[in-house]
Amino acid sequence: MTLTATVPVQKTTHSRIAETDFNNLEFGKYISDHMLMADWANGKWSEPVIVPFGDLKMSPAMLSLHYGQSIFEGMKAYKKSDGTVNIFRPHKHLDRMNKSLDRMCMPAISFDMFIQSLQALIEVDSEWIPTSEGASLYIRPIVFASESRLGVKVSDHYKFIILTSPVGPYYSKPFRLKVEDHFTRTAEGGTGFAKCAGNYGGAFYPTHVAKQEGFDQILWTDSKEHKYIDEVGMMNVMFVINGKIVTPNLNSAILDGITRDSLLTIARETGIPVEERRISIDELEAAFKNKTLTEAFGAGTAAVVAPIAVIRIHGIDYQFPVAGPSSIQQKLKAKLMDIRMGITPDTHNWNYIVKI
Ligand code: COI
Repeated sequence: MTLTATVPVQKTTHSRIAETDFNNLEFGKYISDHMLMADWANGKWSEPVIVPFGDLKMSPAMLSLHYGQSIFEGMKAYKKSDGTVNIFRPHKHLDRMNKSLDRMCMPAISFDMFIQSLQALIEVDSEWIPTSEGASLYIRPIVFASESRLGVKVSDHYKFIILTSPVGPYYSKPFRLKVEDHFTRTAEGGTGFAKCAGNYGGAFYPTHVAKQEGFDQILWTDSKEHKYIDEVGMMNVMFVINGKIVTPNLNSAILDGITRDSLLTIARETGIPVEERRISIDELEAAFKNKTLTEAFGAGTAAVVAPIAVIRIHGIDYQFPVAGPSSIQQKLKAKLMDIRMGITPDTHNWNYIVKI
């Protein structure tokens, strides 16, 4: 599937690509040369334009700063060996972005506008797409309220911006988790399923506390009883119990992860049984004790598959063995990467191919 992009471009006069260390792509450190922008006013989106990445002149009274009307997406593009570029699952990302926008009373974006914007931006900054193993171009669309007003209201003005960033693997090693039984990320009926900025800001303090205790991330539990698992850090979480993939079923407190969906689809096709259901902390602990729980990993766009080293449950640190190439998580990750890179057939039309 290809489409010709027609977005006006103002090119930078000073590319920063030579100053970018492509051998050491710390997540989010480098932003590519250009960004795409559009404005919502008078009930419609303006035509998007591409300009050099740089600061914006905004009112300190803009509503997003005060009342949090701000959402984002996280997606990835890969350069394939035939020179084409693959934007992974843009339909599903836009679908989720529009759900986030709807939950925050913000205007939707059409698929035509979204894909033309992505394609044009990627064409302009195609040199920024890294080619080393495990690396990709992270794409960060954001929408935020830009109306200048102190009254508590739904904004009448928004900015839509897309940034891109060459990235390597998010985590350099398996991470240590603590089951959270005090703080809450979100509650059912809240905004947990949406990628709104406040979900992440609200998680900073509990994560800071966990880090002080020697953990990398939090295993979030339900807000009512702190008994059932929701997700991990900024990702979905999956366990291998008795050779089955077991993962919390989606609800309004859990992000509908695109990597989650891709991995579960591949698992089912590969004949690995999948259970999407409630998982209690007690079940997890019992499965660890009777040795039926053999793997645990995070699944998200940024981290793809992130092996878990340790989970602290009821004060005890349960340790997982290193997930080698024959582990279920590494096999699923390899299959996903093969689809993304065009090595195996893309039977679900997940790859949106851009010819550069
Ligand atoms: C993702 O993996 O989907 C994310 O958006 C993570 C990001 C907050 C770094």
